[in-house]
Amino acid sequence: MASLPALHLPATPSFKYFLLPNKKSPIHHTLPLPCLRHCSFSAVRAYKVLVEHGGGTTELEVDSDETILSKALDSGLDVPHDCKLGVCMTCPARLVGGSVDQSEGMLSDDVIERGYTLMCVAYPKSDCHVRVIPEEELLSLQLATAND
Ligand code: FES
Repeated sequence: MASLPALHLPATPSFKYFLLPNKKSPIHHTLPLPCLRHCSFSAVRAYKVLVEHGGGTTELEVDSDETILSKALDSGLDVPHDCKLGVCMTCPARLVGGSVDQSEGMLSDDVIERGYTLMCVAYPKSDCHVRVIPEEELLSLQLATAND
């Protein structure tokens, strides 16, 4: 029978260890907690986002854990915004293509289904194309659907 590799643990560990169960192995793998904290198991990936604004189109690479507005501002785009919380509706856009997670925003489901988004709470879930629109367009639609 093959011998198992020795585990080399410090005699007096200065941090706690975490056991990972592994049914295929006769032993548990042991990793120090600080190591686990530095390992990223979440699936953050970048998507290509086209932003139409002011007569031009800019291509951005936006991580799935950042908003389109945040990346647009970091990239020097002068897009309208205010609260950055999905409340004031100053950053509306038409979602021309792709999909976003905007579950943090205040738009009604009807308005979202019609293809609108607030860029400050729009996290890309795929490559996207958004067109910045006048605030009034979204406000009138939001009010109309609220009366339904
Ligand atoms: S900046 Fe206020 S809703 Fe987006």
